[in-house]
Amino acid sequence: MIRALILLGATGDLAGRFLLPGLAALEAAGRLPDDFLVVGAAREAWDDETFRKHATRCLEQHAEDVPAPAREAIVGALRYRRGDFTDPDSVARVLQAGELGARAAPLAVYLALPPKLFAPTVTTLAAVGLPPASRVVIEKPFGEDLEGARELNELLGRVSGDAGERALFRVDHVLGLATVQNLLGLRVGNPLLEAVWNSRHIDRVEVLWEEDLALEGRAGYYDGTGALKDVMQNHMLQVLALIAMEPPAGATERDLRDRRAEALRAMRPPPLELMTSLTRRARYTAGRIGNRAVPAYAEEDGVDPGRRTETFAEVVLEVGSERWAGTRFVLRAGKAMARRRKEAVLRFRKGERLSGGAASETAGNELRIGVDGPVDIALRLTGSEAGTPPRPVPLTLISPPPASDLPAYGRVLLDVLGGGSALSVRGDEAELAWGVVTPVLEAWADDAVPLEDYSAGSSGPPRRD
Ligand SMILES: NC(=O)c1ccc[n+]([C@@H]2O[C@H](COP(=O)([O-])OP(=O)(O)OC[C@H]3O[C@@H](n4cnc5c(N)ncnc54)[C@H](OP(=O)(O)O)[C@@H]3O)[C@@H](O)[C@H]2O)c1
Repeated sequence: MIRALILLGATGDLAGRFLLPGLAALEAAGRLPDDFLVVGAAREAWDDETFRKHATRCLEQHAEDVPAPAREAIVGALRYRRGDFTDPDSVARVLQAGELGARAAPLAVYLALPPKLFAPTVTTLAAVGLPPASRVVIEKPFGEDLEGARELNELLGRVSGDAGERALFRVDHVLGLATVQNLLGLRVGNPLLEAVWNSRHIDRVEVLWEEDLALEGRAGYYDGTGALKDVMQNHMLQVLALIAMEPPAGATERDLRDRRAEALRAMRPPPLELMTSLTRRARYTAGRIGNRAVPAYAEEDGVDPGRRTETFAEVVLEVGSERWAGTRFVLRAGKAMARRRKEAVLRFRKGERLSGGAASETAGNELRIGVDGPVDIALRLTGSEAGTPPRPVPLTLISPPPASDLPAYGRVLLDVLGGGSALSVRGDEAELAWGVVTPVLEAWADDAVPLEDYSAGSSGPPRRD
């Protein structure tokens, strides 16, 4: 296991809200080595003590459920180095700092940096060189488009050298979420489900990523990015790949990644002539979410309305495989929606005996899998009582995570430090995912699809059909 983590961007939001809490959870679970060291770096003129005070506050706020001794142990493992990573010498100085230089052991270098710094920092890492068996961890977004992803892969290849993908970790934290991890188990562990996991039985698969939060001051990142690039190109396509893929041939991480890549390769975006009927994009106008008044997206601080950034995106795809011919795959993401809903829904075809008469009123069977939060699985069956028409009967399992459960970033960090790759997106997967959304992005950039409006607090723009 790697015993030293270099956290580039240690003063930022990701580090404070997710990475330090993830490490504290690992420490509490006894999953970190005794002499574990974290060297944080950023431009702030901090010293070790200032960084530790900052980390203590972050952990109090975002890891309050982790026992105090584990939080204190992580704080004790922290060091801080100042550096501006636009300057290659700065990165080199951080990597060779004090205790690290003396150890010459493998490092995990986590780029928790603004995406524009990914390419220059990776270039510097390649020039400086890392100790053998080190890993480079790169956050999302992995490039701003297909070309950017290819360039980043090429640069990463220079750092990893002969170790190739084993030295690289492209984070999609959604792969670390409990229910997403369980998706595969749900399929292969239940022959009942696997037997009907195909287009003969499933009419439509929906992957939904609806948030009841609006911009929340994140214009600097979000404006110009939009829903499609922010969550659909990465998290949602990964969830879809896990649903659409064939069961892995073996139990290795490579088997799993091969299957995910195959599924991504089979995804068919709408052809240009169907873009207006099979994709939608929209921006929220002023409205209310619960008792909160939300201003129009275009009026939010830092937003340039001329960029026409979408806060709602819907794309209907096909998956060109024998298993899925005839099933529609709908991806829908939105901000400032009426309610928070991050889930995959498999809608089964209605049974023939249910068509016609009162029975046709019955909704079909439905399997709903929550992808964020506790394990949340619901199956809608049809039941009836004597003398009454059939009616939907929900069976819902919502199981809180066990106390020992790790948060998604805890799992991601464990995989990074332990040398696993199941929770990382392979280079070809990242490019394939960009390939799926590129025709849609191009059609939208050409205004081939109108930018619609929806009120904040609604369920999105009115349907066009
Ligand atoms: N925050 C999230 O919820 C979240 C979720 C998923 C993915 N991500 C990804 O994680 C990465 C970090 O996001 P974030 O929200 O943490 O951003 P952030 O709050 O803006 O933090 C960026 C960090 O990078 C440092 N930094 C910026 N420019 C630098 C430079 N020239 N030299 C050295 N350090 C520099 C900043 O510190 P100084 O300004 O002091 O240098 C800060 O520590 C991004 O790629 C983002 O897309 C974030």
